[in-house]
Amino acid sequence: MNYEIEYHDYDVVVVGAGGSGLRATVGAVENGYKTACISKVFPTRSHTVAAQGGISAALGNMGDDDWRWHMYDTVKGSDWLGDQDAIEYLCKNAPKAVLELENYGVPFSRTGDGKIYQRAFGGMTKNYGEGTAQRTCAAADRTGHAIIHTLYGQSLKHDVDYYIEYFVLDLLMVEGECRGVVAWCLEDGKLHVFNSKQTILASGGYGRVYFSATSAHTCTGDGNAMVLRAGLPLQDMEFVQFHPTGIYGVGCLITEGARGEGGYLVNSEGERFMERYAPSAKDLASRDVVSRSITKEILEGRGVGKDKDHAYLHLDHIDSDILEERLPGISESAKVFAGVDVTKEPIPIIPTVHYNMGGIPTNFHGEVMNLEKGNETVVQGLMAVGEAACVSVHGANRLGSNSLIDLVVFGKAAADRINDTVNKDEPNKEIPSHVIDEVIARFDSTRSSDGDISTSELRSQMQRVMQKHCAVFRDDEIMSEGKKLIEETWLNSENIKIKDKSLIWNTDLLETLEYKNLIAQAVVTMNSALNRKESRGAHAREDYKERDDKNWMKHTMSWLNDKSCELDYRSVHEYTLSNEVKYIAPKARVY
Ligand code: FUM
Repeated sequence: MNYEIEYHDYDVVVVGAGGSGLRATVGAVENGYKTACISKVFPTRSHTVAAQGGISAALGNMGDDDWRWHMYDTVKGSDWLGDQDAIEYLCKNAPKAVLELENYGVPFSRTGDGKIYQRAFGGMTKNYGEGTAQRTCAAADRTGHAIIHTLYGQSLKHDVDYYIEYFVLDLLMVEGECRGVVAWCLEDGKLHVFNSKQTILASGGYGRVYFSATSAHTCTGDGNAMVLRAGLPLQDMEFVQFHPTGIYGVGCLITEGARGEGGYLVNSEGERFMERYAPSAKDLASRDVVSRSITKEILEGRGVGKDKDHAYLHLDHIDSDILEERLPGISESAKVFAGVDVTKEPIPIIPTVHYNMGGIPTNFHGEVMNLEKGNETVVQGLMAVGEAACVSVHGANRLGSNSLIDLVVFGKAAADRINDTVNKDEPNKEIPSHVIDEVIARFDSTRSSDGDISTSELRSQMQRVMQKHCAVFRDDEIMSEGKKLIEETWLNSENIKIKDKSLIWNTDLLETLEYKNLIAQAVVTMNSALNRKESRGAHAREDYKERDDKNWMKHTMSWLNDKSCELDYRSVHEYTLSNEVKYIAPKARVY
């Protein structure tokens, strides 16, 4: 084991340069902390760039709005699994965060009188569920693109040290505290040890455990897997969101904003079936409801196409000038990926994996939480933000456009917390050499793997098992079989073969490290899903069709050891932060 190693000392190390990572980075440097941002891709290629429809905030530019209504919708959308202190923090701080983005230079679309344009999105209502709210602030249908380019530009005003195309291998944990990370530079093959006072995981979701996902191929949940390897738990991994409208056959996203602008779904009988499933919200019901409705139509034989296995989204009744102005990106995607001219024909769509509600448990400051002897404790030196984190503001189901706002609100919250708690004048704590050696030994053992199964074969097995056995509808039989198959694939990973042993731009090794991260999360997802015996949010069980608040209004915590997954529970925070709102109870309206 002979590796060239460079050592670095920072106050703050941010892993990931999407929306949350960049917002945390900007906040940390603005506060005078020596900060490194490490990313496996160039920052503006992080998955935030693909976000389309918009970012939620009760600005009230297009009709009355109130952050309390936003909070009510988010708690209800979460199917009462969201932590209400964190949801209050999110919704109350959202308007300020969007105005900050506007001041940074995000080119939002505008109303006639020059205000930020806001569109309708699923589950966003006025006056506690009484009518549709236009709350989703948009830059046409390229909102993520606009935000990430602006944030990256802002960060360049500051003294950030970027380490781009570096793959973080693992956390450096000493006596339960995080003291930094080890990363592999893809360009020159050197290993880098980053010693830090605070490490922030902003490493995104793990959509790529599934065969069909709107997530980029880079969405391999690397931070989540590092947390599992550190012996820490993940939370609520059974809740995987399917977006109702991925393009049939390719999975690319068609924004919910398309329905916000008046688009509607039909089945093979030409029926606008959402009127039956959600008579009031119709096509703008929350995502879990729309995805289940489409799937039901297909299962009951009313799917469209030769194999009757998808549905149609119509935009062809919308004025072509509006389509060009507000939905140019998806009009292009429909043309390129489905050969469809949206002004004349419907788009073939199918529910596609889009978002992970589960992830690294944190409080609303972004601090990672452990569960020791049933008590919540903060893991010193470690934070998580964005899709990697489970704050939990999305609970069992995220409302569309609540993700981009989560990124910037909690990215800033993490930087603010560091400002309150981390003394930049203190020296960094030492990292014993055996802790570094263990990380390098794991890397070395993967690199020298000489079994008989290729990474692509194992990854494909994993993705197909998850797609079939942990899908929109689930039951004991399908998931028990899924658990057996996914654990077999996991244990078989010992037999992996790496052909390329080099260190420079070794995509064989990189994809294997990513696969190992994915399979760990697939195992905890399947175990958590099989264990939760109720239907809630995105977790829809055919054998337990009702939500069961008495037994299951609790977060699942999952750990992974060498051979199996262990589960425990944490209470939902049924309290709020201030007296401005009271606890929002299931089915009731308590204001
Ligand atoms: O449909 C969309 O534009 C996706 C938005 C989101 O996931 O927040």
